[in-house]
Amino acid sequence: MALSIDFTHLDSMIPPAERRRIAPEILSAQRTLLDRSGAGNDFLGWVDPAALNSPQDLSRLEACAKRLAAQSGAVLVVGIGGSYLGARAAVEYLVSPMYNSIPKQTPDLWFVGNDVSASHLSDVLAACRDKEISVIVISKSGTTTEPAVAFRILKKELARRYGAGAASRVVAVTDKARGALLTMARAEGYETFVIPDDVGGRYSVLTPVGLLPIALAGADIRGLLSGAADAAAYCASPDFDSNLCLQYVAARHLLLRAGRSVELFCGWDPCFTMTAEWLKQLFGESEGKQHKGLFPASAGFTTDLHSLGQFIQDGSRVLFETVVSIGEDTASLSVEAEQGDPDGLNYLAGMSLGEINHRAQRAVALAHQAGGTPSMILSTPSRSAYEYGWMLYFFEFACGVSGYALGVNPFDQPGVEDYKKNMFALLGKPGYEALAAQLSNK
Ligand code: PA5
Repeated sequence: MALSIDFTHLDSMIPPAERRRIAPEILSAQRTLLDRSGAGNDFLGWVDPAALNSPQDLSRLEACAKRLAAQSGAVLVVGIGGSYLGARAAVEYLVSPMYNSIPKQTPDLWFVGNDVSASHLSDVLAACRDKEISVIVISKSGTTTEPAVAFRILKKELARRYGAGAASRVVAVTDKARGALLTMARAEGYETFVIPDDVGGRYSVLTPVGLLPIALAGADIRGLLSGAADAAAYCASPDFDSNLCLQYVAARHLLLRAGRSVELFCGWDPCFTMTAEWLKQLFGESEGKQHKGLFPASAGFTTDLHSLGQFIQDGSRVLFETVVSIGEDTASLSVEAEQGDPDGLNYLAGMSLGEINHRAQRAVALAHQAGGTPSMILSTPSRSAYEYGWMLYFFEFACGVSGYALGVNPFDQPGVEDYKKNMFALLGKPGYEALAAQLSNK
């Protein structure tokens, strides 16, 4: 098992017996997911990570990553939401949150098309001015406005730089049968990878959507998949008392019922920042329906103890914390003794930053508990790909079960589709005239 949970700082508010009391409803939601009998059951391809990529596809994906790396100093990854967050989260967690700035053998990765900022895209192009570039464009629908607009601009840049050779610098990850991106890919001869029909955007990190950029960054995608496969076997267990995933789901449901409607995902290393963004999408888009669900938020410690810390300790009692603690840092630095102790820090002499960080974690958990903000602390031994894959799957499974326990379809996103349609209408897309007229009367 690559993850443990410390419920100590929750027990006084939600004791173990209370969590066990709702085990039957959580187990029933787990069965609904595993039997594929609930709403959205045509989007459960992610449940079996071992079946997500055929051995041939995986080998072709690795070969494609090698080809792109050999021909590029920088790769621009175009996508938004589920077609963006997982890849960036994994690269920052497994390699570095400063990936583009560290010395490395792999190309820089720039994530674009996840906003409509001209200055962002221009700055990225300026940063790549002296490097050979390639583009990975990711969109399941193939029609989402933000990535489509960015890709049109990038195609022009590729044509300007490489002329007829531009097409060999584009890889498209999209639906196998439909969408403008697929049509374009076929016409231009781009290499393509398929996003399986039965996997929605926010559950797609272990498909080519996430795996291609992650492989490009040199991270171990097979380790990632193997961790996820082991987590799948673990999470499927119907033994509530030994299944931490089900216990986590039970705890967050009871917290919501007790009025704690905000789940604050907290990390203790900047490598976790984008994983928290991925979690916010996963839970927010899956559960936030029919006026239900926890609001997912995030904080990075100790940084945010100096901004949000006061509120967490003493503000409105709406929060609980889900903390991810990494056992071993990938680097080691220690405080050294200094002659005369000018800054009064000699009491820390010999102590590693990792140890200081872990003591800070304990100090904060105790302070927040005393202040009335409960927490669950999920610990993973290190930043290995195997353990990360395990953790990603753990949260995906928890989210699916949790959505069913809440009585919503955790695999659709009608609210996101609403904004997309309104945007099409207000931008004048053909076919949206009636909606545009309706909106102009508001
Ligand atoms: O989780 C989801 O389904 C969404 O966040 C999508 O990933 C996002 O809207 C991007 O859609 P697409 O991949 O179709 O461009």
